[in-house]
Amino acid sequence: MFSFFKKKSFSIFPFHELTTDVHSHIMPGVDDGAADSELSVKLVNGLIELGYSEFTATPHVMEDIWRNDKTSITGGSNRLMNALQDSGIHNKVNIAAEYLIDGNFEQLLKDKDPLLCIRDNWVLVEISFIQPPLQLKEVFFEMQLQGYQPVFAHPERYNFYHTQRKALQELHDAGLIFQANLLSFSNYYGPHVRRAAEWMAEEGMIDLLGTDLHHERHLAALQELKLTKSLAKALDSAKLKQLR
Ligand SMILES: [Fe+2]
Repeated sequence: MFSFFKKKSFSIFPFHELTTDVHSHIMPGVDDGAADSELSVKLVNGLIELGYSEFTATPHVMEDIWRNDKTSITGGSNRLMNALQDSGIHNKVNIAAEYLIDGNFEQLLKDKDPLLCIRDNWVLVEISFIQPPLQLKEVFFEMQLQGYQPVFAHPERYNFYHTQRKALQELHDAGLIFQANLLSFSNYYGPHVRRAAEWMAEEGMIDLLGTDLHHERHLAALQELKLTKSLAKALDSAKLKQLR
């Protein structure tokens, strides 16, 4: 009789339904993710406990902060694989990157340097949290011309788009794949980010869901993640793309 006043209770997010995590910073000693192999193993074990069976290591490639290139990523990949093997973890790990759109990235495109893909021809890119690059559309277009499928990492996290939803819609309409962070659907990054993620889910603009796992605090928050109505919607559309 008092059920009307009951607080809604949601179940825990079914991570296993996604099979693969498409975005994580589990590679040791290359960026602001796992600092060493020990932490890499902890994070990967955490992802397995959540329900994932495959992972994608996407270290930052940034001109100013994390100047990773193929050499540093190969080194990190070897350390990661050895550590996982030593711990008896034999799940598949894809080695890719998360490219910041900056001068270095534009140079890589200019040189036609083969980019690391999260799968097929899909390249994960992020932009500055301060302001979008002026040449954003041109860079995405150049990627498409070169046969890449741009995957825009966590578009819901950019504050400047919260008041410019149309700009985000235009990018999605231009053929970008949008990858939202699962924790954006909690209040982990704040209510504005959560509202943006929920709006994107309602509009059917979320194509992929990833953890963007950097550290154990992320892991602890993921363990508490609830399957809200809008996250369920995002999961449905993500499964269409992510599991094909
Ligand atoms: Fe990331």
